[in-house]
Amino acid sequence: MMFRDRGSSSQHSRLLGVKVSTAYWGSYSPLLMEIRKVGIVGAGAMGSGIAQVCAQTGWETVLYDAFPESIKKGEESILSFWQRGIEKGKTNEVEVSSWKDSLRTSSDIEEASRGMDLIIEAVPEKIELKKSVFRELERLAPREAVLATNTSGLSISEIAAEIKNSRRFIGLHFFNPVPLMPLLEIVRHEETSEETVTISKKVGEALGKTTILVNDVPGFATSRLGVVLGNEAIRMLAEGVASASDIDIAMKLGYRHPMGPLELSDLVGLDVRMDILNSLAEAFEDESYNPHPLLKKLVESGDLGKKTGRGIYDWTSGSREERIWPRDYQVPSK
Ligand SMILES: NC(=O)c1ccc[n+]([C@@H]2O[C@H](COP(=O)([O-])OP(=O)(O)OC[C@H]3O[C@@H](n4cnc5c(N)ncnc54)[C@H](O)[C@@H]3O)[C@@H](O)[C@H]2O)c1
Repeated sequence: MMFRDRGSSSQHSRLLGVKVSTAYWGSYSPLLMEIRKVGIVGAGAMGSGIAQVCAQTGWETVLYDAFPESIKKGEESILSFWQRGIEKGKTNEVEVSSWKDSLRTSSDIEEASRGMDLIIEAVPEKIELKKSVFRELERLAPREAVLATNTSGLSISEIAAEIKNSRRFIGLHFFNPVPLMPLLEIVRHEETSEETVTISKKVGEALGKTTILVNDVPGFATSRLGVVLGNEAIRMLAEGVASASDIDIAMKLGYRHPMGPLELSDLVGLDVRMDILNSLAEAFEDESYNPHPLLKKLVESGDLGKKTGRGIYDWTSGSREERIWPRDYQVPSK
């Protein structure tokens, strides 16, 4: 699905708060805006998933990453997802071929910025890195393009402060794996324009997601609840309350969670979860959000979850196996 009748770019500029004069000024409706070109910055787990769903929607999509090996990995994961879809009969060669035509990768940020209607950033969860990316995007992207971050918990307002026209800046928080997860959490900061919110909701709809609208508070609605549950589950594992899989089963069967908090932490990436906890602890000035020492230890040893083969579980055999037994684990003394 694509949006129709976008109108002139000057109309679009008005939509995003840039003052221009146009004959169509009064008749413009943001609901009629058309998204055609999307740039994605960062080709990791999230960026590649977002690029995939954008290409599937028929948008001309450019997936950029600063590291060639990440581009290769991101592209491979998209192609293998599509290939599996063909094998399972969920899609076909013709459809996949048209999706491939919509998707381009690049190691040049200009290619992912120039002429884009929407740019979604998905680089690692580091505020200074994201700020520097947006400084560059604002310089390169059309003045009217919507600029969005996929941060899981950093302050949208703090990143927005780097952007001159912050009315067009918003959080578009997708979930992992993007093609399968039905939620898009839209995070507005104080200056985000209504038009930017409306476009974002339409983007979510076009991508087949249910959207929720959340104000910019640390951790938004989803990450705050998610990481607190995950950190507590890790604390319980370290304290020997139960095995990892029993803790996961407790939530799956007792509370109907589709996935246990430990398994989910491995899927999301322990480094990503630790970064969010650290930023919540700092934002709320509350040590109860501090990552548990076991989580820190795993991240420091490079055991980041499913993506590295090991995390709370061992995934190297292709299935989930226990590897941390409470009795063997000594909680480091503070
Ligand atoms: N993993 C999740 O489940 C999840 C869910 C929702 C949101 N997020 C958020 O999405 C963002 C990305 O997370 P991820 O899991 O995809 O991380 P990731 O580590 O898998 O991917 C990050 C990518 O950014 C690239 N990169 C690093 N510096 C860059 C730069 N300067 N310019 C361009 N690319 C650069 C890396 O090469 C890598 O490919 C983070 O803000 C994270 O908090 C993650």
